[in-house]
Amino acid sequence: MKALILSGGKGTRLRPITYTGAKQLVPVANKPILFYTIEAVKAAGITDIGIVVGETHEEVEAAVGDGSAWGVDITYIQQDEPAGLAHAVKISQDFIKDDAFVMYLGDNLIKDGITSFVDEYCSSDANAQILLAHVPNPQSFGVAVLAEGRVVRLVEKPKNPPTDLALVGVYMFDSTVFEAVNAIKPSARGELEITDAIQYLVDNDYKVNSHIITGWWKDTGKLEDMLEANRIILDGITTDICGEVDETSEIAGRVKMGKGTKIINSCVRGPAIIGDECIVENAFIGPYTSINDRCKIVCSEVEHSIILEDSQVLNIGSRLEDSLIGKNVKIDKDGRKPRAYRMMVGDNSAVSVT
Ligand code: G1P
Repeated sequence: MKALILSGGKGTRLRPITYTGAKQLVPVANKPILFYTIEAVKAAGITDIGIVVGETHEEVEAAVGDGSAWGVDITYIQQDEPAGLAHAVKISQDFIKDDAFVMYLGDNLIKDGITSFVDEYCSSDANAQILLAHVPNPQSFGVAVLAEGRVVRLVEKPKNPPTDLALVGVYMFDSTVFEAVNAIKPSARGELEITDAIQYLVDNDYKVNSHIITGWWKDTGKLEDMLEANRIILDGITTDICGEVDETSEIAGRVKMGKGTKIINSCVRGPAIIGDECIVENAFIGPYTSINDRCKIVCSEVEHSIILEDSQVLNIGSRLEDSLIGKNVKIDKDGRKPRAYRMMVGDNSAVSVT
């Protein structure tokens, strides 16, 4: 059994963060989403992993390396154009060979992992198996129609969804999928769709099973999804305090804090995570906040937010909430006259002021 993790795509809905980085490397609770995917694959007993990479291949390769950090072997497969999920399968045939494999979209986060899903497929005689979830907005996903547990029809992002069963981004295949991806034609959006490939399997009497997920999962394409994923993961952390907390500070609830971090005259109310080498001074860090390494939060309040490495929130005097702040960003109140907002904000950013 092998695994194919898809880590291409442009991440347009997470701009501007994804102008400078892969969407799969945006951290949730200070850990890139892609790392959760690798861990879930390893936990399912699979160590031979192909990662399909696109424009952001250098960054993905620098973060993941050869996989030895997880005890897995990683092979990188370059996809030169974002030509669809079925195209990603097509170009991975040399890596997959005749093995069965799990395909996992690297921006999907599944809280309970994929072990039972993989095991169920292994003990069945199905050619393919898809993971489904009841969702309130099926028009944003591939949608399945079932008859007695077997998949009979799939439609990609239908305007009028026939059911509320969305395809979650994890699929099991045997090598019959290569016949399918070579037979289908590009969709209206110009991509080789994995839903069309699975429909081909159904139409040609191959057996496609389904499994409906009951636990939490998220396709982390947008800011609100990232914040929700951050909440769910932080809900499961346990307290682990490195660094220094001075006697005028208060740590309440479950808080993780890295080495070299200093909390001075501040209150940190968990669940929250603060990385290494941070300074939190005269500040409040509220629940559901993830602050990455080397950040500085001074005379400010931050809650329900994700802040990436090397950023600073200084003297803002009010509370930052529901925010995703990129790397090396500085937000401050400098007291200069005239009293005004002064900004240098990148393309496709969003700033709300009071
Ligand atoms: C892709 C698939 C879709 C699936 C979704 C799950 O869509 O095409 O069928 O439901 O992933 O995350 P995308 O998010 O790439 O538009």
